[in-house]
Amino acid sequence: NELEVRLITDSTNEALKSEGFAHNKLVVAEYQSAGRGRRGRQWVSPIASNLYLSLGWKTQLPVQQLGGLSLVVGLAIVNALKQLGVKDVEVKWPNDIRYQGRKLGGILVELSGDMVGGLNVIIGVGLNVHMASVAADSIDQDWINLQELKPDISRQAVLINVIKQLQSHLEQFSSEGFESFQADWRQVDECFNKKVSILQGDDVINGVGAGVDTNGAFLLQTGKGIKPVYAGEVSLRF
Ligand code: BTN
Repeated sequence: NELEVRLITDSTNEALKSEGFAHNKLVVAEYQSAGRGRRGRQWVSPIASNLYLSLGWKTQLPVQQLGGLSLVVGLAIVNALKQLGVKDVEVKWPNDIRYQGRKLGGILVELSGDMVGGLNVIIGVGLNVHMASVAADSIDQDWINLQELKPDISRQAVLINVIKQLQSHLEQFSSEGFESFQADWRQVDECFNKKVSILQGDDVINGVGAGVDTNGAFLLQTGKGIKPVYAGEVSLRF
């Protein structure tokens, strides 16, 4: 297993994509000049003792079964933090790590080129550990640092735990599918039983979060029944 530690990179996801993807290769950086988030957004990535990492994961699973992957990664992060004494962390479907409605981190899953012998999946994770307040102005949503939840948190311990939990969760995902995480998801699902709006292009659909299906699709309880929502281009608002 390869480990690449960078002081500076454009994006750890991009580094893994363009400079040699490998299964279980981990790229970690201190700073990203072009950190990216979901839906083409920027991920503000100053040098601040935060965590910016990407893991290469080759899988034989068909692409249709990868819908639940970012949820499983979210669960892995919640469990990694729980082991370090940081409790009550939730996941906002499909990829936001949150604490009391404030963003603690995010997940960006991307597929990379070569499909021979399986899919190359890039699992990117950004976690605010000691995000400097100087960066606050450039972040367009309410955020929080791990350090505020646990002042003596060790970034190294967070990194090690996240990697360990990722490995075991990915193994279970490969062999047993998302279904085996459905009950665990309910425990961390920030949207469960809450009023949410789904934004899909210019359309807004209002409803109440009703969990996820066996593939990880979001279930929205609307006046007309339960509507499954797939990650793709949608965004979810409270
Ligand atoms: C989001 O919430 O929109 C996802 C953010 C993902 C950020 C991480 S930081 C490490 C990896 N490299 C990137 O460029 N993005 C991900």
